[in-house]
Amino acid sequence: MVVESPSNGSSSGTVFLDACYRRAVPYTPVWVMRQAGRYLPEYRALRSKADFLTLIHTAELAAEATLQPLRRYPLDAAILFSDIMTPLEGMGVGLEFDPGPVVREPIRTQAQIDALPALDAARDVPFVLEAVRLVRAGLPRGVPLIGFAGAPFTLLCYLVCGRPSKEFSAARAFLYAQPETAERLIDRLADAMSSYLAAQAAAGAQALMLFESWAGLLGTVEYRRFALRGARRVLAALRASGVPLIYYVNQGSALMQAVSELDVDVVGVDWRSPLSEARRALGAGKAVQGNLDPAALFAPPQDLRRQIDRVLEEAGPAPGHVFNLGHGIWPETEPDAVARLIDHVHERTSRSRGA
Ligand code: CP3
Repeated sequence: MVVESPSNGSSSGTVFLDACYRRAVPYTPVWVMRQAGRYLPEYRALRSKADFLTLIHTAELAAEATLQPLRRYPLDAAILFSDIMTPLEGMGVGLEFDPGPVVREPIRTQAQIDALPALDAARDVPFVLEAVRLVRAGLPRGVPLIGFAGAPFTLLCYLVCGRPSKEFSAARAFLYAQPETAERLIDRLADAMSSYLAAQAAAGAQALMLFESWAGLLGTVEYRRFALRGARRVLAALRASGVPLIYYVNQGSALMQAVSELDVDVVGVDWRSPLSEARRALGAGKAVQGNLDPAALFAPPQDLRRQIDRVLEEAGPAPGHVFNLGHGIWPETEPDAVARLIDHVHERTSRSRGA
């Protein structure tokens, strides 16, 4: 690595947090959605000893999975190893993974929504907060930990449909058949995720991220009425936590105008539209995160570097870019490609700033 560790003048002590706040940074920070996962042989070794739920439920194992990619690569942030469904399980929702989340009794009625208890993270998911503390103790200096949750609408998709789906038709039909009930569920989930994320920050998470993985299913009117409503409610509750807030919107190109209204520090963008367009729609007050196509990691090294350069060019010279993929890394990815990605982002951006 030619890049020096950021023990320099960055005011918050970390390149990643500075980029989230749109401060000048010595190089563009990079992390990878799903960086702890099946493409890593050491993760597969961990999984051969414990199933996915056991990893999540055991703080030491979740912390180990979180830290694995940090030992291998000079990443600029860690993200807690868990699942977006974990807090719902803590609220009593019966779950299995096959491999995506399967909800034993999908939630579709007012009575079921009213019966959902509030979340008390310390009581209901203590292993998550313990994992946060263990990860913080084990992280390299200057590398912050991102805590996360599913955005309310994305959680609603799984709760109403009961299993992963391409169209999530039952969830989309529910929005039209019972809109007030859907709003009520969104608000319930927003309050639960607010307290879940606040508890992660209190335990030591240094940035908080909401995953809106299924936003692309919605037209702008429904996006505003349901998804944006939920995200706004969570983000407003978290402003007081004093950490940068990140909102990832998958397939959100058509929604960026609405997203620009959110009080959020960073917007995560999928690979389908260039970051320059996202920046234009979001305005100068937000940083962007993304957005290399996960498939680009299968390109020969020369071509991968060109693809990375294109993302960097689209992000432009203004501060406020966190490099990432446009969605989670694929399990079939060659681990060396991730090393090449991180090195190239660091080398290319420190050179271009004259470092
Ligand atoms: O490599 C791996 O993906 C291994 C472990 C795993 C995770 N979730 C980790 C995870 C597994 C088997 C799951 C189950 C799951 N949960 C699936 C199936 C995944 C698959 O590829 O087989 C799905 C679709 C979910 C639901 C889910 N979890 C969503 C929609 C998200 C948000 C991010 C996204 O992909 O849109 C998650 C978050 C998640 N799952 C994280 C991790 C480690 C945290 C975020 C991150 O690391 O970037």
